[in-house]
Amino acid sequence: MSETGGLFLSFEGIDGSGKSTQARRLAEHLRGLGREVVLTREPGGSAGAEEIRALVLNGDPDRWSAETEILLFTAARRDHLERTIQPALDRGAVVICDRFADSTRMYQGLSRGDLRAQVDKLHALMIGREPDITLLIDMDPAEGLSRALSRTGAEERFETFGLELQQAMRRGYLDLSREYADRFRVIDGAGSPDVVFARLLPALPEISGARA
Ligand code: TYD
Repeated sequence: MSETGGLFLSFEGIDGSGKSTQARRLAEHLRGLGREVVLTREPGGSAGAEEIRALVLNGDPDRWSAETEILLFTAARRDHLERTIQPALDRGAVVICDRFADSTRMYQGLSRGDLRAQVDKLHALMIGREPDITLLIDMDPAEGLSRALSRTGAEERFETFGLELQQAMRRGYLDLSREYADRFRVIDGAGSPDVVFARLLPALPEISGARA
């Protein structure tokens, strides 16, 4: 929790994990309890970061090297933090962010080579903060992949991963949840959105109105 009472939550998971649906539902729930909620996403979430999103998610899969992607995602994150996230936290809002730096640790740091150290160095230099709580929606990779492929559209640079890579990403996220055990909460993503949401609320007893 920041000094002004703001709270920074992020959602993470492999493609097709259902985290965006859960982020939206949590935002609606907290608004219903009277909290100001800023629901945002990465890459994007500010005007400049949305421009970078278009650069990084559209086009040929080989358009950028992994190293250049680390720079682009971090540039977008810096703008998002300055323009959207920090001002909202300063007003005391709850910020719910669909992906944050853990996605760069996984997607650029793990799936496209062993670049985790570079991701962490740049993060320390230019971002320097983590969410207060990260909700990892843990999902069977085969199910996540079929969901992700069924809705593939124009922004498809990252959505053509095969099953093996999805499995490595899932393991990577679970490792990350142990590395940052103080802020991670792992939610079983199997089942309908209602079923998953019913698991989410008890994991957030501080703010959700649900008893643990
Ligand atoms: P998006 O359409 O928002 O997908 P999702 O619903 O899965 O979040 O696209 C975001 C894609 O960008 C997703 O495949 C993960 C990727 N990504 C990175 O590779 N690095 C990052 O730092 C972030 C934030 C996202």
